Amino acid sequence: MRHLLSIEDLDRPAIERIVAQAGRFAEVSDREIKKVPALRGRMVLNLFYEASTRTRSSFELAAKRLSADVVNFAASGSSVEKGESLKDTVLTLSAHKPDAIVLRTPWAGASELVSGWCSAAIVNAGDGKHEHPTQALLDVYTLRERFGKIDGASIWIVGDVAHSRVARSNILAFQRMGANVTVAGPPTLIPRAIEELGCQVRYTLDELHGADVVYALRMQRERMSETWVPSLREYAAWYQINGRRLTPNQVLMHPGPVNRGVELSGEVVDSPQAVITAQVEAGVVVRMAVLYELLAGAREPRALSGEIAADQRATGDHRPTAEQRATGDHRPAADQRAAAEQRATGDHRPTADVASVSGASPVVGGPLT
Ligand code: MLT
Repeated sequence: MRHLLSIEDLDRPAIERIVAQAGRFAEVSDREIKKVPALRGRMVLNLFYEASTRTRSSFELAAKRLSADVVNFAASGSSVEKGESLKDTVLTLSAHKPDAIVLRTPWAGASELVSGWCSAAIVNAGDGKHEHPTQALLDVYTLRERFGKIDGASIWIVGDVAHSRVARSNILAFQRMGANVTVAGPPTLIPRAIEELGCQVRYTLDELHGADVVYALRMQRERMSETWVPSLREYAAWYQINGRRLTPNQVLMHPGPVNRGVELSGEVVDSPQAVITAQVEAGVVVRMAVLYELLAGAREPRALSGEIAADQRATGDHRPTAEQRATGDHRPAADQRAAAEQRATGDHRPTADVASVSGASPVVGGPLT
């Protein structure tokens, strides 16, 4: 994978691979020292032309946990305010030789344009109303953590679909993972011909009780040039997800930021059915996996399996595997398994491999290989 511009670039195996790698990075996030050397010496440039809390902070954290150097650029306070174009800004910052540029802009298609202007890997972190692929990946990750699989699940995406890049990426990603997707909202906020993406359309929430997952969208007023609903109060009366509409077995998602009292009532935001915080947590590990895939994984496609470690044992090549570099654990695979077993069993006597260099007595039963 050279860039991540759209979910259209990813088939199901690619989504599965990123989600699986994110799962491995989740283990790193549970460690006391949450850092691995996988991208040491690489540079990630976060180029944000739009406000962001979750996406920007999680990309920054993801790059730092992988030991990359990070440069954060926000359009406000930069030469953009003096009239510098996107192209000139990209060319200027490219002089620092970033390996990846994480780009958020209000312009649909901007990421694709930028991918033609420089040699860095481009990650689309939201381009206008078009796409937000890492949001879709972290949502797939969150649902997989919750349900194990998404195949056959009924997912309703409710609200301002017309102005939502999240809706477009998520319709594609959820369907690729086997879900049945329905979009629902006022007719003015559902784009014409959206069924061509394979989803169903509803203009009321009468059948919402049949959904396994309710994915609410914010009313994206910053992208509206006209009035699309009579008032927010009327919108909430018809489409707000609240305790009356959400049934106890449904999972509630939202990409954030939430407008409490508009698309969601306060009670459902704070209910155990809401996985909104889990989505934010997933953002870091999924973005680690995306950066890793673009900057390290692509060079060593077998790095995500145990095959290289097996080859090493056979050939006597003891350089660290890509997975070992990713997780920062440079012990041989057998030692890692032994240590994991010791953690699991609470048996802290040295393993045979440690014993052989330290002179201590080995674990009963010999080496755990
Ligand atoms: C986005 O940037 O699209 C957000 O994650 C969703 C929103 O702004 O409502």
